[in-house]
Amino acid sequence: MKPPKDICRAPRNRTLTLTEQERLGFLPKLIRLSGPVEFDGIQNRTISQNLTDVLGWLPAQFVDLLFLDPPYNLTKTYNGSTFSRQATGEYGTWFESWFVPLLKTLKSSASVYVCADWRSSGVVQSMLETHLKVRSRITWEREKGRGARTNWKNCTEDIWFGTVSDDYHFNVDAVKLRRRVIAPYRDSEGRPKDWTATPVGATRDTHPSNVWTDMTVPFWSMPENTDHPTQKPEKLLAKIILASSPPDGVVLDPFLGSGTTSVVAKKLGRRYVGIEQDADYCCLAEKRLALAERAHTIQGYAGGVFWERNSAPAARSTPLYRQPADMPLMFDARAKEPHDGKK
Ligand SMILES: C[S@@+](CC[C@H](N)C(=O)[O-])C[C@H]1O[C@@H](n2cnc3c(N)ncnc32)[C@H](O)[C@@H]1O
Repeated sequence: MKPPKDICRAPRNRTLTLTEQERLGFLPKLIRLSGPVEFDGIQNRTISQNLTDVLGWLPAQFVDLLFLDPPYNLTKTYNGSTFSRQATGEYGTWFESWFVPLLKTLKSSASVYVCADWRSSGVVQSMLETHLKVRSRITWEREKGRGARTNWKNCTEDIWFGTVSDDYHFNVDAVKLRRRVIAPYRDSEGRPKDWTATPVGATRDTHPSNVWTDMTVPFWSMPENTDHPTQKPEKLLAKIILASSPPDGVVLDPFLGSGTTSVVAKKLGRRYVGIEQDADYCCLAEKRLALAERAHTIQGYAGGVFWERNSAPAARSTPLYRQPADMPLMFDARAKEPHDGKK
């Protein structure tokens, strides 16, 4: 995979990259489908193909959680392959062409999450309303965004949540948000009122809302960061997977990119299937999956709760992806260089 042009990374840059030697090592792990498969044949694997070429071969009703992060309706290049912005109607037709066939892969208790920006959100909502029961729209304030002179800086994304039926898995206790309490009141006997004294101060574990402000897009100092241009944070996937899939459940991501969904599913004891058209991204996903054999931590999630940004006790110190000395295939991602170019 070619790094973005003119990249010279700072010494503390932790972006994970792939050497040619690693690429050649991971390629044989990828699978390609040429006919119908049983679930066992794709369980915990990365399918290195265009989604439209494999839609007809996927098994029926094996998925507990479908996570969809397709190209938004923007012109964007993924490792040399460009997705071009279209008229909204055309984007809707493209979306429907793979979304409807994917529905047969869902169990009757399955949940579906679909990422969108403000421009593609309308298409996603109408598609979900036609085919699923829409439960919510999460708004993620992703922090990073490009400032604009004649418009508002675009800093949010939508994540639509739908289910196949009314019988679906949702574990709210697994996704509580630990917040710092600004005014820690005590009752008349001096006991904390609805808060707990912890090593990081007074905190309260709260029900998670559909506004997510506790995570940024991955950036160069985060060990999960790669050169994929639209990588999602592991913390975002952790919330969705913990809330909406049972332990050992099956998570499908047909636009796998750098592998975030499969990696987090693996760390959280779920099974996974990923599909990605670009073989280099597939190899990057395999590298992250290999590293996840030993490192199960997820930045911002510790002690069974999610933490507000930069407040998790382990967040800054966890050597999540540090290069194990005895893994010769791995490349020390922190070797040379100053900034990553990700906007
Ligand atoms: C928005 S990115 C997903 C990023 C991913 N969530 C992550 O965390 O890295 C979309 C991905 O879909 C891939 N893609 C686009 N069209 C595809 C298709 N028809 N079949 C399979 N993959 C496709 C692109 O190569 C890109 O990596």
